[in-house]
Amino acid sequence: MAFPFSLLLVVFFFPFSESKLALDYYKKSCPDFEKIVRETVTTKQMSNPTTAAAALRLFFHDCMVEGCDASILVASNAFNKAERDADINLSLAGDAFDVIVRAKTALELSCPGIVSCSDILALATRDLVTMVGGPFYPVRLGRKDSLMSQVSRVQGNLPTTNMTVDAMIGFFASKSFTVQEMVALMGAHTIGFSHCSEFADRLYSYSKTLPTDPAFHPKYAEALKKLCGNYTKNPSLSAFNDAMTPAKFDNMYYQNLQRGMGLLTSDGVLFNDPRTKSFVQLYAKNQIAFFNDFAHAMEKLSVYGIKTGNKGEVRHRCDAFNSIQT
Ligand code: HEM
Ligand SMILES: *[C@@H]1O[C@H](CO)[C@@H](O)[C@H](O)[C@H]1NC(C)=O
Ligand SMILES: *[C@@H]1O[C@H](CO)[C@@H](O)[C@H](O)[C@H]1NC(C)=O
Repeated sequence: MAFPFSLLLVVFFFPFSESKLALDYYKKSCPDFEKIVRETVTTKQMSNPTTAAAALRLFFHDCMVEGCDASILVASNAFNKAERDADINLSLAGDAFDVIVRAKTALELSCPGIVSCSDILALATRDLVTMVGGPFYPVRLGRKDSLMSQVSRVQGNLPTTNMTVDAMIGFFASKSFTVQEMVALMGAHTIGFSHCSEFADRLYSYSKTLPTDPAFHPKYAEALKKLCGNYTKNPSLSAFNDAMTPAKFDNMYYQNLQRGMGLLTSDGVLFNDPRTKSFVQLYAKNQIAFFNDFAHAMEKLSVYGIKTGNKGEVRHRCDAFNSIQT
């Protein structure tokens, strides 16, 4: 009895969809895949240094909603309002969409109809993270692109800055990430920027008695107020997520948290909760530990909810399904 039962368990729990992924998935069908992606992202990152952060955030948003299936790249049409037009997406930077489109265009010339947009996004993100100083991690390939993309699926599937640590832990747990993996992934905020509107309440309207969040280092708060003073008239005003080394992927994010220089509420709170503080301290002290854990968490994120086989398709264009949806 024991043997067939355990066999059943193995079959049941074996992650079928992931099992079809392989590092050399395109070895025969598109041998230049990795080279084309690497060349495309290198050129793009050199001319637009904001691309790496933009792509990393785009990838995170894609994976959290229905899995890493390029559903975020689909454009809305008359019949369907797509994921990327959810309010929370409106600030996703155009450079990230652009670099994927460029890679796709080059790949369609080299091996038409073979490489999925979701694989391009996964690999381009890894290459860009590595380019700006972050750790390398293997990206297994063979994802299919989604057959749907709906704005209604976004709410509740992306974290917001006003979440408590409890809510953040619950959110990441619901996506199968541990507290430590969550803190490691948040280290992504060592690059890129945030619009003033995302943290203005911490500067000007923190509470009835205190305009400014006392968790901020006073000098940092002062600098941010100067920077954002005009943000209601000029909504494009923004601040670096990591004021010290904004373009470098390093562990400065965690060092910043320790000195009251976490930009978003959801950043700052990680240093105040005993469940997350010890990991912040570890990563602030030890960049190797951070890189190790970030790499593993990204590898895990990269296969989250992926689709293989007939659960998806290889899109001809990343912004549209192959057949018209009504
Ligand atoms: C509680 C979790 C998180 C919250 C509330 C959050 C929120 C935000 C917000 C509000 C911004 C600024 C957007 C803007 O104003 O343009 C941002 C930027 C960014 N986020 Fe997060 N984030 C979270 C977790 C993550 C994770 C896990 C990653 C990746 C693994 C990530 C990657 C990024 C990157 C790279 C940027 C900079 C984007 C750019 O410069 O274009 N975030 N995040
Ligand atoms: C948190 O922010 C989101 C939008 O960013 C908003 O929809 C939600 O109502 C806010 N929740 C709380 C409790 O303030
Ligand atoms: C504030 O922004 C508006 C709109 O961009 C601009 O016309 C105005 O000159 C700005 N004011 C200051 C003080 O920068």
